[in-house]
Amino acid sequence: MTIQPSDKPLLEWAGDSLAIGLFEDAVELTGELATLDQKFSGVLKELIAEEEFKGKANSSIFTRVNPGSPVRKLILVGLGKPDELKLDTLRRAAAAVARVGKKQKSKILGFSFPLWNNDPAASAQAIAEGVELALYQDIRFKSEPEDKAQIETVDLLGFGGQEAAIARAKQIVSGVNLARELVAAPANAVTPITLAETAQAIAKDHGLQVKILEREDCEKLGMGAFLGVAQASELPPKFIHLTYKPEGTPKRKLAIIGKGVTFDSGGLNIKGAGSGIETMKIDMGGAAAILGAAKAIAQIKPDVEVHFISAVAENMISGRAMHPGDILTASNGKTIEVNNTDAEGRLTLADALVYADKLGLDAIVDLATLTGANVIALGEDIAGLYTPDDAVASQLEKAAQTSGEKIWRMPMEEKYFEGLKSGIADMKNTGPRPGGSITAALFLKQFVKDTPWAHLDIAGPVWTDKENGYDSAGATGYGVRTLVNWVEGSGE
Ligand code: BES
Ligand code: MN
Ligand code: ZN
Repeated sequence: MTIQPSDKPLLEWAGDSLAIGLFEDAVELTGELATLDQKFSGVLKELIAEEEFKGKANSSIFTRVNPGSPVRKLILVGLGKPDELKLDTLRRAAAAVARVGKKQKSKILGFSFPLWNNDPAASAQAIAEGVELALYQDIRFKSEPEDKAQIETVDLLGFGGQEAAIARAKQIVSGVNLARELVAAPANAVTPITLAETAQAIAKDHGLQVKILEREDCEKLGMGAFLGVAQASELPPKFIHLTYKPEGTPKRKLAIIGKGVTFDSGGLNIKGAGSGIETMKIDMGGAAAILGAAKAIAQIKPDVEVHFISAVAENMISGRAMHPGDILTASNGKTIEVNNTDAEGRLTLADALVYADKLGLDAIVDLATLTGANVIALGEDIAGLYTPDDAVASQLEKAAQTSGEKIWRMPMEEKYFEGLKSGIADMKNTGPRPGGSITAALFLKQFVKDTPWAHLDIAGPVWTDKENGYDSAGATGYGVRTLVNWVEGSGE
């Protein structure tokens, strides 16, 4: 599929489906649209009246045009109130159009959309992202391909000169789709071994540096918390460290860390019936996000150095498994009483954070499908943002605003650390149920000494059970777009 800018006047465009974005309560046809309506013998006006189309955000309608005309179908998509227009409104509207266009078996699709904030580059990028994200289809595990109808050409009318913005959208979506594929693939397809191979393939394809630490390397570094989680599995742990270095002196040096538990059985505190154990292939969603971001960043080439880190393992049971109550020593020397083997993500992240903290960077962000408690607090769509650092918090909030991925800052209530006090070790890994996502974040904070740091709990948005905006049911690739924006804009 080619997405391209077009300077063809609306009235002269020819193709299968023409999509027009309309604001709420401004659906009376004036100017060019009135002429277009005349050209198609009043079909637009009739459609709007018949369907009582009001231009509300997330609404769309379409109609056939007389046979023989240069446009076969017209799609109207609502954009809500003009003064409330967000970049994400364009992204979502574009996704809705792409879905309708595909259903209609359109090969050539035209977009006549307004600008967000008088910014043609940001608008073109958002529209292209919406189209690309919505049309992604995962048929890897089907024995027969489903439908063959494909959109071939998308013309963005009035966006002449925005080739770079559209290319950027493609680069970012290539990262999102990699993350989606990694999360959606089951735990017998994505393992610590294959994730390490994926990191190596990204490094090879895009010229990044990569280092994979094996179990023995991690032992030498004293990563007892990470290795405790890995010890029951038949599969070896892999500690991934991928690095992007720009040409010349980097403006900033950053690390993004992802939780990479390729399957979370819970360990001996095994997940019971109704716990969603069969969905726990998603527990490497953080690792998927950082690898997706690596793929996008390697193509976009910002002048920022970025370290992509994940301590990857399976949380399993066997005769070698951690016993509930075991005491582990992390690589910063802190001791942890494992009062619940199902709170494993924070154990893997502890050693990853210590490792990143020693790299002498300007900031660290980790992403993790860390707690069910975060889903209870914020629902399925919103990630929790936990950080003691106001500057990093506002950088991430800004990045998420542009990407359309929802985040919400949560409190780091120090008093709750009391819930992690242990009688025998420095801390327990699990506190009481209330505020469970906050104690998890406070646990992570014990492993960062020197670097500004933020944690995103993505347990909700990593997956969607039903179609949601530009995401189809399944893995969302959550985090990639926000990370790319953060890396590029964090110095501002
Ligand atoms: N991977 C889970 C968290 C999770 C839950 C992710 C639902 C996605 C959807 C994590 O390792 C876990 O098991 N957390 C426990 C922590 C508890 C034992 C303190 C939880 O949230 O119940
Ligand atoms: Mn768990
Ligand atoms: Zn987990």
